[in-house]
Amino acid sequence: MDDLIKKTAKKLVLAKNVAALTGAGISVESNIPPFRGPGGIWEKIDPMQYAHIDAFIKDPVKVWDVLLKNMKEIIDLAKPNDAHLGLARLEKLGILKTIITQNVDQLHQKAGNTDVIEFHGNFAWQRCMKCNNRFETRKVDLTKLPPQCECGEIYRPECVFFGEMIPPDDIERSEQVALECDIMLVIGTSAVVQPAAHIPVLAKRSGATIIEINPERTPLTKNISDWIIIGQAGRIMNNIIAELEAFL
Ligand code: OAD
Repeated sequence: MDDLIKKTAKKLVLAKNVAALTGAGISVESNIPPFRGPGGIWEKIDPMQYAHIDAFIKDPVKVWDVLLKNMKEIIDLAKPNDAHLGLARLEKLGILKTIITQNVDQLHQKAGNTDVIEFHGNFAWQRCMKCNNRFETRKVDLTKLPPQCECGEIYRPECVFFGEMIPPDDIERSEQVALECDIMLVIGTSAVVQPAAHIPVLAKRSGATIIEINPERTPLTKNISDWIIIGQAGRIMNNIIAELEAFL
């Protein structure tokens, strides 16, 4: 593993345009559970019943009670961990340009990254389903669910539910980032949800080096990733940054 960390640090120092694709795994060390695998949210509840747009429209109180309330409480308390801070450091050093994240927790922005594409939207804001008025999720009164706009219609979180399209602008920009980068770090994603999982494939096809950081192998590992550093993102990012700063 030490060799892979050294190799990654060297490669990052020499790169001209670095991007990252992140998933729920990068926020696990901030105490936000992932969706799949041990302790994953979808092991406990069926996403089609609680995270599909039709389920939300049919019974928003049920979706708030079982999924969103819990998410709000966890995200309200979460702070960026060493992996988020490491990516922010890479941006400060002029190495990392853009993060494409599937996460809705805004921890990359809290860590200090300034160019973050929120591929699945964000949970920081609620938007009125009728007049598009916005309301901060941290101010939602959990005793009065679902949160309601002054116009009388209900608010919905600004994240993408199953059954909804990824905003076309975010897809377009992410594809552009994939085509232009010379390294893509793929951190903490199971890479099974499309179209996000296709972004590293595009990057690879246009010549980028794909470096995965994950405690386990994913569908990208064999044919798309150039190498994988197996382990938790926080410690690995700390080691990469320490190596890389020694080269500067
Ligand atoms: P998943 O929950 O599918 O995968 C999390 C990945 O993180 C797994 O591959 C884990 O091995 C890895 N992991 C766990 N702990 C880690 C750690 N400390 N450091 C690094 N990696 C770690 O999450 P996503 O791939 O983000 O979509 O899931 C993609 C989408 O599926 C989500 O955005 C969400 C979900 O349904 C929507 O809600 C639309």
